[in-house]
Amino acid sequence: MASQSGAVTKSKAKSFGVNLETDLAVEFIRVVENAAIASAHTMGQGERKFSDHVATEAMRKTMDTVPMRGTIVIGEGERDEAPMLYIGEKVGAEFPDGTVVPEVDIAVDPLEGTNLCATGAPGSITVLAASEKGGLLNAPDCYMDKIVVGPSCKGKVHLDAPVKDNLQAIADALERDVEDLVVIVLDRPRHAKLIAEIRAAGARIRLIGDGDLSAGIAAAVIGTGVHAVMGSGGAPEGVLTAAAIRCLNGYMEGRLVINTPALEHRIARMGIRDKNKIYVAEELAPGKQMIFAATGVTDGALLRGVRFFGEGTRTSSVIMTLATGKVRFIDSIHLEKKPDVKVRFL
Ligand code: FBP
Repeated sequence: MASQSGAVTKSKAKSFGVNLETDLAVEFIRVVENAAIASAHTMGQGERKFSDHVATEAMRKTMDTVPMRGTIVIGEGERDEAPMLYIGEKVGAEFPDGTVVPEVDIAVDPLEGTNLCATGAPGSITVLAASEKGGLLNAPDCYMDKIVVGPSCKGKVHLDAPVKDNLQAIADALERDVEDLVVIVLDRPRHAKLIAEIRAAGARIRLIGDGDLSAGIAAAVIGTGVHAVMGSGGAPEGVLTAAAIRCLNGYMEGRLVINTPALEHRIARMGIRDKNKIYVAEELAPGKQMIFAATGVTDGALLRGVRFFGEGTRTSSVIMTLATGKVRFIDSIHLEKKPDVKVRFL
């Protein structure tokens, strides 16, 4: 039987098995929460690298208390570029020989939207996704062209379709006019043509400074007021978005932007022959078991930012699992160790 820590002794492992989602989902809440609390202390200080550093450090430290044999497949960079949470790094608590714990591939973005945190702007989050070995595409650190929509628009939009056709398809699926749609686009010069085409089609646009990952999640959740995300952003963020999209039954297409010889080499090593391949979420995050966890650092469409108050700290997180089909919104109060500590309802 699973011990309290989630570890399983080898003799029992055969009969009870190791379930990645049920064993680890709750454990990963602490990982994203601690990273969010650490970076939230630096909010508005104008030091994006430092904000990222403290989030990474807190995430790394907490990961080593999780009963798993984890490998970082998307992280802070290659081994020689990043001291912690680098690609290939092994993470997880150590157990005596013979203890069976889940083996997982992990994609992290310890602080998604470093500038947003550094300036106190909305939308920065701490994120991770975990799956069985091979369950997450080991995407290189390049751009990815993306289109992300919710469940009603599944298969109805295509990365290479004219923007106006995609918008009409989304509007039809959502039974509204194109003029009623809100599309999130990263505010970048490279998106000038895309923005002009969305405007010409009549849809509304929310330009964001950073953070197309949390925007993608919002697009797949009804009631957020976001109907699509379009444009190019980070490929690692694209894989993390895909993990969330699968848990939310949304739809996403993405294509790596391979525009240098180094990137050509990198994808060749990964066994990717067609650099123009359009991936759907099921190919970017193909795992059968999937956990996606995020905590708000600053306020966003779906998650509130970290709040510090006299009695402790309050965090707002989402934990989703694919096979077990759960989407949990978690409001945690991390109490100060004081004899007279009180808990407030709201
Ligand atoms: P950081 O968290 O590294 O600051 O990245 C934020 C982000 O805006 C992502 O959400 C997005 O995918 C990517 O950067 C876009 O890259 P660029 O800033 O080069 O356009």
